[in-house]
Amino acid sequence: MSLFQHVCVTVNGRLYEEEVEPRQLLVHFLRETIGLTGTHVGCVIGECGACTILLDGKPVKSCLLFAVQTNGREIVTIEGLAGDGKLRPIQEAFVEKYALQCGYCSPGMILAGHELLRKNPDPTDAEIRKALAGNLCMCTGYVQIVEAVRAAAEKLKSSQRSASEGENLEVFLAES
Ligand code: FES
Ligand code: FES
Repeated sequence: MSLFQHVCVTVNGRLYEEEVEPRQLLVHFLRETIGLTGTHVGCVIGECGACTILLDGKPVKSCLLFAVQTNGREIVTIEGLAGDGKLRPIQEAFVEKYALQCGYCSPGMILAGHELLRKNPDPTDAEIRKALAGNLCMCTGYVQIVEAVRAAAEKLKSSQRSASEGENLEVFLAES
């Protein structure tokens, strides 16, 4: 009997088919089997959130899943968040607000914040803190992290406003 199991999973839009040990943790699969080391590994008991990824759009701790459990599913890691080489507003905001020091928690924080803003584009500070409660930071004291998520929400609102003003202008020009 084979000691390995086949897993077929889409990560950041690319399909991976690998033979893995059934007990291999997802975080180790991402880092060691397919080489995506942006997902960090800390406590390996689900406490720190450094290993957070998006699984079928939901933030999960990849140290709490086996790689084989993701067969047929879709994952986004920090490497897949930026599109066309352009940072997402939440990534820009983390840089602009100095929301990281050593950066160990940052991939997980950013993905958790990104998912919050997708569900709730205008969160209160309390809602931001609650959404990030599963992600620990040893360096920043969290204040700049909350500010960064708030700033990302503002960026998203203003880009939506500009887009709808652009649409209105197009309609106006088409009708005039
Ligand atoms: Fe997964 Fe800490 S390494 S929660
Ligand atoms: Fe160092 Fe958060 S920036 S753990």
